[in-house]
Amino acid sequence: MSFIKKNTEDLVFSPVRMIGKEWFLLTSGTPEDFNTMTCSWGGIGIMWNSSVMTVYVRTSRYTFEYMEKNNFFSISVFPEEYRKALAFCGSHSGRDVDKIKETGLTPVTLDGVPAFAEAKRVFVCEKLYAQMLNTDSFVRKDLLQDYYAKDPMHKMYLGKIIAAYENQA
Ligand SMILES: Cc1cc2nc3c(=O)[nH]c(=O)nc-3n(C[C@H](O)[C@H](O)[C@H](O)COP(=O)(O)O)c2cc1C
Repeated sequence: MSFIKKNTEDLVFSPVRMIGKEWFLLTSGTPEDFNTMTCSWGGIGIMWNSSVMTVYVRTSRYTFEYMEKNNFFSISVFPEEYRKALAFCGSHSGRDVDKIKETGLTPVTLDGVPAFAEAKRVFVCEKLYAQMLNTDSFVRKDLLQDYYAKDPMHKMYLGKIIAAYENQA
């Protein structure tokens, strides 16, 4: 493992493919106490003149508790061979299982924030803005039926990308 710090604007990748198809692990907490979960919804862009990443976390997730308590989070993007590990972290809760033990992933700390040694790319983010999605703000009300009839609402977290790394291993 050899993480090289990069300028975010110099990274070449498709954000739509990375987020929606490759997925990522969203990790929040301290090196001693953190949780991680798989995500495939989110965005990358510019806000308040900074590079930012936005993630959406349902309030039922164990990771939600960590996102509320901590001001930093990381986004770890993996090579295809880790698809099974991501599927596991997206179908089991840290309340019930030890995801690190079960997947064999190796936690590392980058800029004080937990991430994973096997990742090919990591973004370390500082929470700037967080807001619950609310039913009144939905323009297309059918989305409420499709996505929130049974499951709780998402909270949006917009984080400034304070560091971007690529793994040269
Ligand atoms: C491919 C994939 C993408 C997911 N994307 C999200 C997401 O963007 N937001 C979310 O709240 N849950 C998402 N999930 C569900 C969580 O990863 C899942 O509920 C996980 O078990 C939560 O773990 P936790 O309780 O330890 O936080 C996704 C699951 C999978 C398999």
